[in-house]
Amino acid sequence: MIVVEEAHERDVPSIVSLHAEAFPDSFLTSLGGLFLDWYYRSIVSSPNGICLVAIDGGIPIGFVAGRIEPGGNTGFAGLTKLVPFAARLAVSHPIRLAQLGRRFLWQRREAETLVEADSELTSIGSSPQRRGEGIGRKLVKAFASSVEHAGKRTISLTTDFDQNDEVRSFYESLGFVVATRFDRDRTMVQYIAAIDQIL
Ligand SMILES: CC(C)(COP(=O)(O)OP(=O)(O)OC[C@H]1O[C@@H](n2cnc3c(N)ncnc32)[C@H](O)[C@@H]1OP(=O)(O)O)[C@@H](O)C(=O)NCCC(=O)NCCS
Repeated sequence: MIVVEEAHERDVPSIVSLHAEAFPDSFLTSLGGLFLDWYYRSIVSSPNGICLVAIDGGIPIGFVAGRIEPGGNTGFAGLTKLVPFAARLAVSHPIRLAQLGRRFLWQRREAETLVEADSELTSIGSSPQRRGEGIGRKLVKAFASSVEHAGKRTISLTTDFDQNDEVRSFYESLGFVVATRFDRDRTMVQYIAAIDQIL
């Protein structure tokens, strides 16, 4: 039976593997396991973070992550943990470090165009061998329950606009509607849903 549970620090290595499988070509995956470990650990340990894992027979098969109060950041303590990683990246992959800096700047600029919501779903993935079994839908519903539990009402997320019909249909079938579109190095779309529409 598939159950969705709150993720703990011990689940981070499985979430990192699931992320790498779900997003093999993404920029965050290209930064490597050390970065993803920091990224998900900072969400799991943040009071505003929501990180859930789907488990079947003791095996993690999917995850969803995000946060309430999306205007915030990981905080100074979280960012200081990134320093050793950034130093290593500066030596091994200086271009990647520059790209990472550019993404932080994009996010600050995009914050002005995005429609406000009181939570953000930042990543979701299910095991490639288990797609279409309802794991993604269960994860989004559990995420919405956590948002409701935190006393919040709306969820936003951004995804690729182009060549992403299946993922966009997935969100739309759950009740998400397009809030805005914007350009990075590619066109992105922001979706918003009220949790009542999802639950
Ligand atoms: C998006 C994702 C999390 C959906 O997970 P899932 O476990 O397959 O989701 P579900 O089984 O609950 O599917 C829900 C619906 O979406 C459809 N769907 C979801 N992903 C699909 C895909 N990649 N191809 C075709 N249909 C898909 C399912 O057919 C299903 O439709 P139905 O309810 O009408 O039968 C999964 O495809 C994934 O991990 N993708 C790679 C990572 C990604 O793109 N994440 C989102 C980025 S913002």
